[in-house]
Amino acid sequence: MPRTSTPHIKPDGAPIAETILLPGDPLRARYIAETFLEDAVQFNSVRNMLGYTGTFNGRELSVMGTGMGIPSMALYSWELIHEFGCRKLVRIGSCGGLTPELGLNDIVLAQAASTDSNYLAQFDLPGTWAPTGSFRLLDHVYRGAAERGITAHAGNVVSSDTFYHAQDDTTQRWARMGVLAVEMETVGLYANAAAAGVEALAMFTVSDNLVTHEEMSPEQRQTGFAQMIELAATVTEL
Ligand code: ADE
Repeated sequence: MPRTSTPHIKPDGAPIAETILLPGDPLRARYIAETFLEDAVQFNSVRNMLGYTGTFNGRELSVMGTGMGIPSMALYSWELIHEFGCRKLVRIGSCGGLTPELGLNDIVLAQAASTDSNYLAQFDLPGTWAPTGSFRLLDHVYRGAAERGITAHAGNVVSSDTFYHAQDDTTQRWARMGVLAVEMETVGLYANAAAAGVEALAMFTVSDNLVTHEEMSPEQRQTGFAQMIELAATVTEL
């Protein structure tokens, strides 16, 4: 039986759907609710981490901000999964490209998430775990991108605790191992989802490329983001 409230999410009777989109920025959650959802109701405002539930093409869909970084993503996704019954969680965010092939506004789908964080230590596994996304969700979104003529890349990403790195070659070292992009949340989501037996996917627009030093303008960010939301919301069809 889903809980009615947690320390960080207080829906006060408003529903939360089994499928939820998770942007980092809570104002993006509001933008998505206002622009893409029908009959949206707000289910959270604790710490301004705004959450909404409505319908997309007639199917129930929620959207909520997660904040930045693995601890923030991890605590919200944990509560959504364990206390509110979410079963399909899709992170939608931006990433820094680590290979020159990743153009601005391309989409990256995280097959797996490597990390420099200690988050995975708590699972106490007898080795090094590679948390992966749901293949079913990834395959669906990858095909959807192809149908829409959107360039999508699927591969490993690194969820980093640091946006500013003390060592100059930090990101190159991940790139040398075939890691496509750097971001800051996915490993927390994938680990929590896998441990709970639910589905998760993280997808990003490339907002900057650390090799070519290209960077998106705020206008480009908004257009790319809108395209990604439409693609992400198709997981409600599954
Ligand atoms: N998200 C978008 N760009 C990023 C970067 N360069 N590092 C970490 N997270 C990011």
